Amino acid sequence: MVALSEYPQVHAGKVRTLHAVDDEHLLMVASDRISAYDHVLPTPIPDKARVLTAMSVFWFELLADLVPNHVVAYDDPRIPAEVRGTALLVRRLDMLPVECVARGYLTGSGLLDYRRTGAVCGVALQSGLVEASALQEPIFTPATKAQLGEHDENVSFEAVVATVGRQRAEELRDTTLRVYERATQHARRRGVLLADTKFEFGVDEAGTLVLGDEVLTPDSSRYWPADEYAEGRVQASFDKQYVRDWLTSPESGWDRASDAPPPALPDKVVAATRDRYVEAYERITGRSIDDWPTPTAG
Ligand SMILES: Nc1ncnc2c1ncn2[C@@H]1O[C@H](COP(=O)(O)OP(=O)(O)O)[C@@H](O)[C@H]1O
Ligand SMILES: [Mg+2]
Repeated sequence: MVALSEYPQVHAGKVRTLHAVDDEHLLMVASDRISAYDHVLPTPIPDKARVLTAMSVFWFELLADLVPNHVVAYDDPRIPAEVRGTALLVRRLDMLPVECVARGYLTGSGLLDYRRTGAVCGVALQSGLVEASALQEPIFTPATKAQLGEHDENVSFEAVVATVGRQRAEELRDTTLRVYERATQHARRRGVLLADTKFEFGVDEAGTLVLGDEVLTPDSSRYWPADEYAEGRVQASFDKQYVRDWLTSPESGWDRASDAPPPALPDKVVAATRDRYVEAYERITGRSIDDWPTPTAG
C-alpha cells in the first residue's frame, strides 16, 4: 500500500496540495481547511474535502461530453488510503495561465469593475445593474492568477489572446461558456443558482484542451439558494454564511480590518457549516455523501 509521503509534494495551495505520482500523473489532495475573508481559518470543517472531491467528480462526469477532463481515478490503489475520497489521481497537464471565469450574475470583482467602468473585463454591460443583477447572457471574464496572498486580476479577452493565441483563447471562452451553461441548467433544476464559476484548463500531449483543477465546487463557484434570491443585496453564501456571520459577530471578538488571524470556530458553527456542505452536495448531485469513499488509515 502506498503512503502519501512517497509522492513528492509539488505545490501547496491554501486548502489543497499537489503531489507527483509519476511523469504522467499527479495526485490532487483536498483538505478540510476553509478560508473566509482571505484567511485560512484555524478550524477545519469535517468532510469538506470529501464533499468537494465528490462534487468535482460529479461535475466532471456530467460535463464529459462537452470537454475532456483530467480525472484518471478517485478510488484506486495508487491513491493512498489516508487520503481516500479526498484526492484525485489526474493526468499531468500543461496548465494555461488563465483563470476562466463565467458569470451569469453581477457580484464581487465583476460588480466592482462594472461600477468603475461600466464593463467587466472589457465586456460592456447595460446601465443600471446592481449587486446580484442577472446578466442578459453569461459573460466570459478571464483573470490572471495572482501571486500567493494577492487577488486574481481581471483581464480583457485580448489579454488572453496575447497570452495563449487567438485560437486557444476563443476555445477557452467558448468552452467556458458552454460548460457554465450546462452547469447552470442542472443547478437551476436543483433549486440552486450558479452565479459564477472559475475553471482552469490545460493542454495534453496531443494538444487537446482538457478541463483540470477542481470544478464547480463551492470553493471555485458562487452558489445561491434560488428561493432566497433577490436583486440589489449581497446574497447569502450557500456554504460559508454561518462562518462569515459568526466571524463578523461580536461573539467572535475578531476585527476583520485588523491584521489579527481569525479565531477558532465554535463547535456549533463547525457543525452547521459541515451540514451546509453536505446539503449542497446532496442537493446538487442527488447523491448521498455516505456513498463516497472515506480515508481509511493515517
Ligand atoms: N491536471 C493538472 N496538471 C497540472 N497542474 C494542475 C492540474 N490540475 C490542477 N493543476 C494545478 O494545481 C494547482 C492547485 O493549486 P491550488 O490548491 O488551487 O492552489 P493555488 O491556486 O492557490 O495555487 C493549480 O496551480 C492548478 O493550476
Ligand atoms: Mg487554485
